[in-house]
Amino acid sequence: MTDGVGPSGSVALIGAGNMGLALLEGWASQELTGPVSVVEPQPSQRLQHLCAEHGYALNGAAAPRDAVVLAVKPQALESGATAAAPFVGPATVVVSILAGKRISDIAAHVSAQAIVRAMPNTPAAIGRGITGAFASSATSAAQREFADALLRAVGAVEWVDDESQIDAVTAVSGSGPAYVFYFAECLAAAGVEAGLPAALAARLARATVEGAGELMRRQPQTNPSELRRRVTSPGGTTAAALEVFEAADGLAQLLRRAVAAAKRRAEELSG
Ligand SMILES: NC(=O)c1ccc[n+]([C@@H]2O[C@H](COP(=O)([O-])OP(=O)(O)OC[C@H]3O[C@@H](n4cnc5c(N)ncnc54)[C@H](OP(=O)(O)O)[C@@H]3O)[C@@H](O)[C@H]2O)c1
Repeated sequence: MTDGVGPSGSVALIGAGNMGLALLEGWASQELTGPVSVVEPQPSQRLQHLCAEHGYALNGAAAPRDAVVLAVKPQALESGATAAAPFVGPATVVVSILAGKRISDIAAHVSAQAIVRAMPNTPAAIGRGITGAFASSATSAAQREFADALLRAVGAVEWVDDESQIDAVTAVSGSGPAYVFYFAECLAAAGVEAGLPAALAARLARATVEGAGELMRRQPQTNPSELRRRVTSPGGTTAAALEVFEAADGLAQLLRRAVAAAKRRAEELSG
């Protein structure tokens, strides 16, 4: 949660790898009030240090928690659910971030009815992620609010009303950071073709993506299209490039196809 008021409630985190640890660090910085238990077979030094510093129980005794966050790899759902079982009571909400695992898959492995399926993205590691989330109908408003607070510790949260929309969320924001990195790579390669040394082109492309992203972040009320118009003088250099992007086979069409391909793959993976 924001404004220095941390989420309150007890939590068990099952799996503290990349994403689990990012969540835990978020809870620590937001001063989550309520006992935190962590189950992780191979705790890293960073994890051990974090748990010691904040009094989180690492691989300790289990008791039912308000929320159980499943953050193991999707293929480890079964063993993760076994590890989660002693933390799940009648009032527990299970929050799964497992890519491609539907509410029904989770429900088949845990005894909870209240289940939230969430799809974060990698900027969560720096507290700048965005997570799409869907709650099962058995999830109470309070449980959803607690799940929201837990996920918000690593960035923004957007709730969808239909579980199938999680596949589209995956295709837009889940996979999205890779699209942006690829854009930076392609911009650098195009710079080399335009006559720049490779290292310089790479620095220009990287700083441009970073700076444009930050500019957009600092102007939340201004649409990206408006920001674009402001730097595009009629008949100028940017306009010449945008004409290529806007062609029938340009960037918009390409992104539509790329997002559709990612969504199709997400649907296939979740069976
Ligand atoms: N990284 C992302 O950008 C991203 C984005 C969206 C969703 N997700 C989802 O987040 C989940 C975790 O991804 P990740 O990148 O954080 O994976 P990860 O780094 O492999 O973390 C998973 C952790 O869970 C541990 N684990 C395995 N079995 C366990 C068990 N039975 N009980 C407790 N812990 C167990 C693993 O330990 P071992 O290494 O010893 O097996 C590992 O430390 C995945 O389901 C993924 O789909 C990730």
